Amino acid sequence: MPATLASDLARYLDDNDRRIHDELFDFLRIPSVSARSEYDEDMRRAAKWVADNLRTAGLSAEIMPTGGHPVVLGEWRKAPAGAPTVLVYGHYDVQPAEPLELWTTPPFEPTMRNGRIYARGSVDDKGQLFAHMKALEAHMGARGKLPVNIVVLAEGEEEVGSDNLEAFVMAQAKRLACDYVVVSDSSMFAPGLPSILSSLRGLAYFQIDLEGPTRDLHSGSYGGAVVNPAMALARILATFFDENGRIAIPGFYDSVREWSPKLRGAIAALPFDESNFQEEVGAPALGGEAGYSTLERLWSRPTCEVNGLLSGYTAEGSKTVLPSKAMAKVSCRLVADQSPAEIEKLVRAHIARVTPAGVRVSVQMLHGGQPWSAELEGPLYDAAKRALNAAFGRDPVIIGEGGSIPVVSDLQRVLGAPVLLVGFGLPGENAHAPDEWFLDENFTKGMRAMASLWDEIAVGAGTR
Ligand code: BES
Ligand code: MN
Ligand code: MN
Repeated sequence: MPATLASDLARYLDDNDRRIHDELFDFLRIPSVSARSEYDEDMRRAAKWVADNLRTAGLSAEIMPTGGHPVVLGEWRKAPAGAPTVLVYGHYDVQPAEPLELWTTPPFEPTMRNGRIYARGSVDDKGQLFAHMKALEAHMGARGKLPVNIVVLAEGEEEVGSDNLEAFVMAQAKRLACDYVVVSDSSMFAPGLPSILSSLRGLAYFQIDLEGPTRDLHSGSYGGAVVNPAMALARILATFFDENGRIAIPGFYDSVREWSPKLRGAIAALPFDESNFQEEVGAPALGGEAGYSTLERLWSRPTCEVNGLLSGYTAEGSKTVLPSKAMAKVSCRLVADQSPAEIEKLVRAHIARVTPAGVRVSVQMLHGGQPWSAELEGPLYDAAKRALNAAFGRDPVIIGEGGSIPVVSDLQRVLGAPVLLVGFGLPGENAHAPDEWFLDENFTKGMRAMASLWDEIAVGAGTR
């Protein structure tokens, strides 16, 4: 299906390439770290930067308060009668940049090296959100109009769980009403291989606290007669899995929908190299649930991972102590049709059942997000295929995704609109880690693909 980007849009993006990159670098210089209050002022600056940039492009924009960091809402609604309305979602917040000493160049001083843009947020997600902003600008700049109505929803709390966004979407459902949702906050399967996501995993994140004795005890004077919370925690965690790598929390798989043979086939056909993957990970062997391939384990199966453990003496040398407390952070990645509320119930009941006598346990759910799976057909999907082909010179592949974007399933459910997830990151891009990068070629082509998407959606709707 050969397709091309309209020449006026291509010329606009070519002519403005230098300025577009300068603006992207300005955006990336703002340390919009949502997790830490010392950056609150920068968060407001980033929101204002996005709103101003949208206004300069010819959209209207409003900064709207939430219970947390603000949402930026951009709008343009002058498309021809009958033209679809498309909502573009992205996030302007980023993960903390620490450990700073592992960055080759500082996280908030964007640097181009080997065709890659290095900076915190370059690919996740400021660079991808910005690619959309410039794709919209290209239409406004080249033609003074867009072929579809547009709502841009840029949030500032994705990296901390989007706690306030579901309520925002419900409260603003009328204003956000749309025919389609488009999100670029994910990666391509491999360089040169444009990719459309079939699914995202959801999340249920817990903190488990155990308390035994009221204070640390001498492990000689007391050890053996008092239950050790560290050991009790280890025993609890060990009950989470069986020997086949299956999660042994009763009921955990009850709502898991198996993938269709068609999707399993598409995933099996992807050019995946198991040994490359193992090398990238650097572990001596891979492991997971028996009976599933690595990609299926990553994309179609739920997990239960320990994210952190804390107890007792961990500094230099030895200390003979029986700790009074132990703590674990545990998160479950969920797949359709599991829900965080259902998993919370099962996890709480299971922990209550397996906690040994002699310790007090408390379980807190820190955040949750629904899993999402795509409708891989219809006019939006067809338009995306043509648009990706126009920019990358080939049709997209279908991939899954192990990560989570909590609001995606809320948008689909509340707005009743199909969601297209089409991202331009790459494996190894170091999202959330030191030396995060965004391949400049993907930024450039992503921008062109999205510029072409607005035309292709209008063509598909017969309004252009
Ligand atoms: N953009 C990512 C999600 C993602 C990760 C998509 C990898 C594609 C590939 C998003 O910003 C993210 O990091 N999500 C968090 C959500 C959490 C903080 C609630 C995640 O998946 O851990
Ligand atoms: Mn992201
Ligand atoms: Mn992220």
